[in-house]
Amino acid sequence: MKRSLCAVALLGVLASPWAQAQTACAAADGGRLLASGCFQCHGTDGKSGAFDALAGDGQLDMLNKLNEMRSKGVEGNIMYPHARGYTSAQLACITLYFSKLPKP
Ligand code: HEC
Repeated sequence: MKRSLCAVALLGVLASPWAQAQTACAAADGGRLLASGCFQCHGTDGKSGAFDALAGDGQLDMLNKLNEMRSKGVEGNIMYPHARGYTSAQLACITLYFSKLPKP
């Protein structure tokens, strides 16, 4: 039993963003609580607020942008602290949540 739990955990770490997202989101509400940290600027459920809508955007596209923002982020860019404030698994979960919503 213990060994199979380890195998599951290892798979979660090694596998794709989708699998990571499933692991990070499993206990939650599909990522909505985590994603709510983005609603203030990107609108409730990412349906556009002050800035770009995220609902219905491709998960990988969003993840690539977020990874770029946190690696090459310029201090002072509004997204820099947001992109850096989450683990990769959490970002995978958040972007999976937004990608499943219909485009506004
Ligand atoms: C304080 C406001 C604010 C919050 C909170 C915020 N963002 Fe942003 N976001 C922005 C702004 C402003 C831009 C445009 C940045 C730029 O072009 O330099 C942006 C851009 C983006 C982009 C690129 C959009 C595109 O189409 O190019 C993504 C993806 C993104 N944000 C995801 C998120 C996620 C996920 C969260 C929550 C973890 C989040 N943002 C929280 C303000 C915010």
